[in-house]
Amino acid sequence: MEATSWYTREEDWVLKRSIIFNKNLVRLTFMEVDRLIRLLGGVKEGARVLDLCCGIGRHSMELARHGFQVTGVDITQPYLDTAEKNAAKQGLNIEFVQGDMRSFVRPGSFDLVVNLCTSFGYFDDVEDDLEVLKNIYTSLAAGGKFAMEILGKEVIAATFKKIEELEFEGYRVVAESRILSDWSRLECKRRVYHDGVEKEIVAYHRLYSAVELKSHLAAAGFRNIKVYGDFGGSPYDNNAKSMVLLAEK
Ligand SMILES: C[S@@+](CC[C@H](N)C(=O)[O-])C[C@H]1O[C@@H](n2cnc3c(N)ncnc32)[C@H](O)[C@@H]1O
Repeated sequence: MEATSWYTREEDWVLKRSIIFNKNLVRLTFMEVDRLIRLLGGVKEGARVLDLCCGIGRHSMELARHGFQVTGVDITQPYLDTAEKNAAKQGLNIEFVQGDMRSFVRPGSFDLVVNLCTSFGYFDDVEDDLEVLKNIYTSLAAGGKFAMEILGKEVIAATFKKIEELEFEGYRVVAESRILSDWSRLECKRRVYHDGVEKEIVAYHRLYSAVELKSHLAAAGFRNIKVYGDFGGSPYDNNAKSMVLLAEK
């Protein structure tokens, strides 16, 4: 399979749904949003928030519960269908839009853009990643903020496992990872066993160090760029579990 198209394979995202959005992860959403708002030094009442690559809308819904006007954008329609259904069930008014992060742009329309849970670095061409950052910058109002959470190169290097086996919620997953192109790309092949069916799913992620991402953000126009090791604001050091970047327009 050509690396280029892996993220557009809807049936793969559908199969991965219970693996990505497992109960343990979904349970963290309340805390993640609460801590992120604090880390941002608060977000003004009624702020317009874009959840870019919103998936099934777990952060979108939590942000809407805080009273923000939320737009969730994602490429995978079945995820958006779930998001819409869940939001309606909870009486939350959220705009969900099917779109590609490389082309979604609404100039000056948001006070905050979030891109969470390693939803960046999917493309073969680094120029596409830069385009995404430029779109985010353009979509922010003056003084607006951007928050990204991603597994950084440093964290992956510290925790790398060639083979990982997981079993939960009726799924058995055998994941095999490879570092490609001088630590610039990660290939993750997952064999998924579920209901007697076996399927292989391949994903590629560009590996970014904090310094590399900071320089891309600066090139897109962002200022006051800060890096943390989690949503609580711990340092991005050898103990970091993730990379949280904050930046301002
Ligand atoms: C790891 S999931 C994270 C979802 C969500 N941010 C969360 O934390 O629950 C990555 C998401 O990116 C979406 N995605 C992949 N490629 C995309 C693209 N080119 N444009 C917009 N969304 C994309 C997928 O459909 C998926 O929902």
